[in-house]
Amino acid sequence: MRTTSWDRVLLAAAVALPLIGCAQRAAAPPGAGGSGAIAKLATATGAPAGQAVLTAVPDGVEIVVNVQGLTPGQHGFHIHANGKCEPSSDAAGKTVAFGAAGGHFDPEGTGRHGHPDHGVRHAGDAPNLMADAQGRATLRYVSPKVTLAPGPNSIMGRALVVHADPDDYQTNPAGNSGGRVLCGVIQPARLDAVVGSIGPERHLVR
Ligand code: CU
Ligand code: ZN
Repeated sequence: MRTTSWDRVLLAAAVALPLIGCAQRAAAPPGAGGSGAIAKLATATGAPAGQAVLTAVPDGVEIVVNVQGLTPGQHGFHIHANGKCEPSSDAAGKTVAFGAAGGHFDPEGTGRHGHPDHGVRHAGDAPNLMADAQGRATLRYVSPKVTLAPGPNSIMGRALVVHADPDDYQTNPAGNSGGRVLCGVIQPARLDAVVGSIGPERHLVR
């Protein structure tokens, strides 16, 4: 049988299409497109306390938080500059939980803590979490001044921090929100973390 160019096109399509379909699902690139991220929040002793799922949206980054183990009431919640949840020491040598996370993410150098709706404020400022009587808190917030994609305002690799007390949205540098009780580093979301646990072998079977 004579091989026409159409035969080759069809053959190529038959071989390539399943691979393309696979690649689109499997190759959501860690960090490359910056479309999704996750932060697993934990206490200062390392106990898991929930997570935040972050998604790039046209207005910024949507942050969906689900945490537990808080005292009932409001808790300051921010994006901190350093993606480190280790303790640090203050000037007096006292240990500061999650101190290595640094201050609020402030790529514009405003030096000003404020309400999330304020124009001039740390990009990392966010609304308080509201914990219920069982200590559970959920929040969905679109942060308008940040990105997941690479750039000066990217929060990939930085930290989310939950505080002991409410954020008053005005006192520098951190809204008088007290100690740091939960911390998690923002990391690129893996496919299996988003849709369940579909192993990569699913895409290799012919
Ligand atoms: Cu904070
Ligand atoms: Zn702030």
